[in-house]
Amino acid sequence: MRVGLLTGGGDCPGLNAVIRAAVRKGVRDYGYAFVGFRDGWRGLLDDHRTTALDIAAVRGILPRGGTILGSSRTNPLAEGEEGVCLIEATLARHGVEALVVIGGEDTLGVAARLSGEYGIPCVGVPKTIDNDLSATDYTFGFDTAVSIATEAIDRLHTTAESHMRVLVVEVMGRHSGWIALHAGLAGGANVILVPERRFDVDEVCGWITSRFRSSYAPIVVVAEGAMPRDGDLVLKDGTLDSFGHVRLSGVGEWLAAEIERRTGKEARTTVLGHVQRGGTPSAFDRWLATRFGLHAVDAVRDGDFGTMVALRGTDIVRVPIGEATARLKTVPPEMYAEAEVFFG
Ligand code: F6P
Repeated sequence: MRVGLLTGGGDCPGLNAVIRAAVRKGVRDYGYAFVGFRDGWRGLLDDHRTTALDIAAVRGILPRGGTILGSSRTNPLAEGEEGVCLIEATLARHGVEALVVIGGEDTLGVAARLSGEYGIPCVGVPKTIDNDLSATDYTFGFDTAVSIATEAIDRLHTTAESHMRVLVVEVMGRHSGWIALHAGLAGGANVILVPERRFDVDEVCGWITSRFRSSYAPIVVVAEGAMPRDGDLVLKDGTLDSFGHVRLSGVGEWLAAEIERRTGKEARTTVLGHVQRGGTPSAFDRWLATRFGLHAVDAVRDGDFGTMVALRGTDIVRVPIGEATARLKTVPPEMYAEAEVFFG
């Protein structure tokens, strides 16, 4: 059997580990041949630069960040039935009978529909640094991003204290505050702000003032999608980001300016941005991505299409892809409340 592989959406550390594991298992145990489609769904629409993936082709890629297949945010269903026909034609041209789709909410949402509505045999593998996919305890990429953000916070503590300044760290997370919460707790942040809960700037300033009173400089971790309660975050311009959302001025910059204005304390902002998505995966992410790759190939062998591999405790299970994409997994209020003990 010929099996196709693609990686779609924002990249994250661990994608290559999935590809390596799937190919090794499929070739060694089931005699499969693998075809890598380039740049997410775009590769299936355009049928460009397809790669044959054998064991030699995946050697040495386990610790490498990014994806050897490239990625894009192309949604083939935006092109209607024509997109589906192009995908079917590309799969037929390459003799591909099953597709392993490694992606986040958008990429897997397409896989769910292609499987369910058009009978295209897809198995999903969940990835995102944001950890906001339902139906799996963790996505790979998240642990690496949290480690990078935590190291940054550790470093910012010392420079904040030298100058007795407020340091605001903006981390990724448009809709969920998982990175902010985990890195903020691990890094000993004094304020953690997440998209799930609107914040009150005066309350934040109160925590900052109390932190200075005990002769320590405060660190504020803010997720990029966090918003103030009174909605007074000023939009820089009307430009749209790649998701079609209005691009914010950067909540970190805005918040630091407000803190200076309201407390009279000097404040600086560090935006970690794509550093959180780059570089080598952590040991946990390599482990998780490898197991996802192995189990995805088993799902192909079983003809269990329309499913996604997921982590439950320490087990890898299969769930309907739609279960992961139907709604985002956000930070529960009680988990956020745990962190509040450390504010101020
Ligand atoms: O979904 C992953 C993610 O890294 C988000 O945390 C972030 O908001 C977004 O992608 C950035 O997307 P892009 O790389 O297209 O700017």
